[in-house]
Amino acid sequence: MSDYLLEMQGIVKDFGGVRALDGIDIKVRAGECLGLCGENGAGKSTLMKVLSGVYPRGSWQGEILWQGQPLQSQSMRDTEAAGIIIIHQELMLVQQLSVAENIFMGHEITLPGGRMNYPAMYRRAAELMRELKMPDINVALPVMQYGGGHQQLVEIAKALNKQARLLILDEPSSSLTASEIAVLLDIIRDLKAKGVACVYISHKLDEVAAVCDTVAVIRDGKHIATTPMREMDVDQIITQMVGREITAMFPDQEHDIGEVMFEARNVTCYDADNPARKRVDDISFTLRRGEILGIAGLVGAGRTELVSALFGAYPGRSEGEIWLDGVKVRVDSCTPLNSIRMGLCMVPEDRKQHGIVPDLNVGQNITLTVLKDFSRRSRIDAEAELKTVQGEIARLQLKTASPFLPITSLSGGNQQKAVLAKMLLARPKVLILDEPTRGVDVGAKAEIYRLMADLARQGVAIIMVSSELAEVLGVSDRVLVIGEGKLRGNFINQDLSQETVLAAAIDQSPQSLASQRTGPPISQPAAAAGNLRESL
Ligand SMILES: Nc1ncnc2c1ncn2[C@@H]1O[C@H](COP(=O)(O)OP(=O)(O)OP(=O)(O)O)[C@@H](O)[C@H]1O
Ligand SMILES: [Mg+2]
Repeated sequence: MSDYLLEMQGIVKDFGGVRALDGIDIKVRAGECLGLCGENGAGKSTLMKVLSGVYPRGSWQGEILWQGQPLQSQSMRDTEAAGIIIIHQELMLVQQLSVAENIFMGHEITLPGGRMNYPAMYRRAAELMRELKMPDINVALPVMQYGGGHQQLVEIAKALNKQARLLILDEPSSSLTASEIAVLLDIIRDLKAKGVACVYISHKLDEVAAVCDTVAVIRDGKHIATTPMREMDVDQIITQMVGREITAMFPDQEHDIGEVMFEARNVTCYDADNPARKRVDDISFTLRRGEILGIAGLVGAGRTELVSALFGAYPGRSEGEIWLDGVKVRVDSCTPLNSIRMGLCMVPEDRKQHGIVPDLNVGQNITLTVLKDFSRRSRIDAEAELKTVQGEIARLQLKTASPFLPITSLSGGNQQKAVLAKMLLARPKVLILDEPTRGVDVGAKAEIYRLMADLARQGVAIIMVSSELAEVLGVSDRVLVIGEGKLRGNFINQDLSQETVLAAAIDQSPQSLASQRTGPPISQPAAAAGNLRESL
């Protein structure tokens, strides 16, 4: 009998003329966690889709051995029955269904006679949520009530509810903050102890280093190396991934910060289904020309709600006003179209739901906001459009075989670059980026940070929401911290530590916050504009 639970040998997968996987070998033992690393488009998700049966036998070449025997599976259902469970990179939840219904989809608990046993499902779902340290989630509510981070946890709960012998996690933590990631990694350690094997895919390499026993690196569809984690460190993984060393992650060029050009005043957002509940509670802040403002907070703190309200994309009732270049707009009358016309653009957190238009190709997605620039009477100047698209593809080093491919065929990180290109073409004055490097590899992350610094130098004001504190501290001039819908801190980013930001994020009361503050001087939210002017 083989030492390995799973062996994939010589896997080759082509899409049209493009070879996405070129003879990949990986193997995993029971109780082992294998990290699978590689740049955007390297082939990680494709390899896992081959394994989990998304791509049926016959559409790829090679051999999959399961407990030493050829894996006899024709579909995802078969691989699930064997105990191979996958958490996909893109969320697969049905937005209108409840958290519990999503967790039990296809595995519903029924009463004799076939009716759904909701009490049993709610009980088990709530138990899973407690395991994930998310006891506040109401499992009877539709998942669309919850933001990206919570939805990712629902996906994880759904997988944990199945009897996995091999659990594949494809970017499970891209919308999670440090505390939820810590819970997730503990759960993986528990599973390993019970003999469950894991394949862990993440661009957050410190997670890979923390939980994986072995790391396999692939590049351009080829297997580069498989190495025990104890013989590797994060820098060595990066070098294997990109084939060179990356020295400076964050740009250190100075950029000038000018006058206040944008202001949010007393923004409040009410829950779409529970109007008594405030998701964002009376937040005000200012933003200067050429300034990069980071917004930090825990999952569910209200960060995404706040920025979508500013952009006019918040689904519930909202109050307050924004000022852009001296023009006032009431938040409840903002619409994305008007915002873009005013020069306020946003790259949303949920790429699949709000970022891409899945039926359009790569180029059409990129030119969506500026299509009128190419209209000549009643026609589109396709040549000019293509030239622009090619320019953007080159500028962002977006990896696609052609601009005419469906956007959905790109790897996750490259879809993100396309969404970014779309908003850059609209020439924003204020650019909101909600988790801009979600699922983006290290090299491309550094490129995005450089791009942000370039834009700031050109006078664009940037608001960046991010779950990665290192990123917030690495690129921001100033950091707002939001907790439970309220502004908990407004820090100039000089010698600011992760601990200071985190303390503000988890703190309950502003009073105790004051006593814990250890960072540089902080302006009070209400007086943000005035104090800031002095401190700059
Ligand atoms: N359905 C498809 N049609 C055409 N090409 C595809 C399809 N799916 C994937 N590809 C291509 O296969 C390659 C590998 O993509 P894959 O999604 O596996 O990358 P990845 O390593 O998971 O990247 P990321 O880190 O961005 O998620 C990419 O070049 C991608 O464009
Ligand atoms: Mg992927």
